[in-house]
Amino acid sequence: MYDRGHHIGQKFKERFGVQPLLVRAPGRINLIGEHTDYNDGFVMPAAIDREIVFAFGPSTDGRTIIYADDVGEAVEIDLHSIRPDKRGGWINYLLGVIDRFQDRNIDVAPFWCLFGGNIPVGSGLSSSAALECGFAYGLRALSYAELSDEELIRMAQWSEHNYAGVKCGIMDQFASVMGRKDQVLMLDCRDLSYRHLPFAPRDFKVVLFDSNVKHALATSGYNTRRSECEEGLSILQRDNPAIRSLRDVSQEEVEVRKNFFPDNVFKRLRYVTGEIARVQAAARDLERNDLIAFGAKMTETHRGLSELYEVSCAELDFLVERLTTSPHVAGARMMGGGFGGCAIALVRPDAVSAIAESLGDAYRSTFGLELTVHQVNLVDGTGLVPAPNPRQHNTN
Ligand code: GLA
Repeated sequence: MYDRGHHIGQKFKERFGVQPLLVRAPGRINLIGEHTDYNDGFVMPAAIDREIVFAFGPSTDGRTIIYADDVGEAVEIDLHSIRPDKRGGWINYLLGVIDRFQDRNIDVAPFWCLFGGNIPVGSGLSSSAALECGFAYGLRALSYAELSDEELIRMAQWSEHNYAGVKCGIMDQFASVMGRKDQVLMLDCRDLSYRHLPFAPRDFKVVLFDSNVKHALATSGYNTRRSECEEGLSILQRDNPAIRSLRDVSQEEVEVRKNFFPDNVFKRLRYVTGEIARVQAAARDLERNDLIAFGAKMTETHRGLSELYEVSCAELDFLVERLTTSPHVAGARMMGGGFGGCAIALVRPDAVSAIAESLGDAYRSTFGLELTVHQVNLVDGTGLVPAPNPRQHNTN
C-alpha cells in the first residue's frame, strides 16, 4: 500500500540530507451546517482520508526553505520580515502561521519543510485548512511552543483571514485538527464546545461528486455573504441589542420582519436561521441512526443554499437534482463555501459505481465536464505520522 508519510520523508531526506519530523493533516467534509459557522451556529464536519504530509527539520545553514512537492516549487523565507507575499499562492497560508507564532513571541528558528498530499485544490475539501493546520502543528513541535490545539486552530484561521483574504469561519480548521476516525463532530461555533458522534453506517457510503468547477473563495461571493449576514444582524440589533449573532434569532422571527430587510439580506437570514435549527434536528436523527431523515435534511440544505443563500451553481444543482431522484441516495447537497466544488451524498454501497457511471455520462453530455467521484472514510485529525514499521515499507 502507498505510504505517503514514508514517501514525503524520503523526499525530504534526499533534498536536505537529514531525517525529518513528519506530520499529517487531513481535508474535511461537512455533512450538514453550511455557512453557519461564522454566524455562531452548528456544523457537522469530519476529517477525511485525503491529506497533506509535512516533513520538517531544523535548518543547518541558517536558511529557511519550504518545498511544495506537488508543484515542484521551493520558497526561501526571511524569518525577520514575515508579511503576505503579493504574488499569492500556497506560501501565504504558511507565512500567516509564522506571523502568529512570532506575534506570540515564539522563537521560530530557521527550518526546512517539504510537503505534499492528495487533497484536491478548489474542490471544497479544505486543502487550505490542512495546509495551515499541519504546518502550525509541525512548527509547534519544532519550536517547543506551548500552544493548545485550540490556539493552533485559531492561528490557522487568522492566517486564512489575513494572509489569504478569506473571512472564513472556524469549521475547516477545527475539523482538520479535531476529527476522529469514524466520527463526525457536532461543533457549536459560538463557544467551540463539541461532541463526537459515531458515523460508520453500513447501509450508506459518503460519496463526493466533484463538479470540477473550481471555486476560489477569495474572489467569489463568500466574503459578500458574510457581510450580508452582518448587515442583517445589525438591522435586528436596532430593535434588540441583546442579539449577538444570527444564532440568537429564529427563522420565524426573521420572517415576521421581512420588510425590515433588503431582499437579498432577508433571503440570507432565512437560510441561516433555518440551517442552524436543521443541524440540531439532524444531530437527533443521527443519534437515532435514522439516515433517511438525516439525508432528507441534507437535501433541504441544498435547496436553501441554492435558492436563498445563492451559493450553488448550475453544475451542482444538476448533480444534486439527479442524485436525489435516485432511490439509492438518502440525501445530497453542495458542500463547503460553494460556487463550485463537490456535492456530498449518502449512497447505498452497492449502487455507488452505477450512479457514478450514469451521472458521469449525463454530466459530461450536459456541461462538457468530467465528474470525479471520491468515496471517503473518516479519519483522525492532524497529528504526527506514526513511526514506520520497517517491515511494511513500500514506496509504490
Ligand atoms: C468555507 C469556510 C468555512 C465555512 C464554509 C461554509 O469552507 O472556510 O468556514 O464557512 O465555507 O459552510
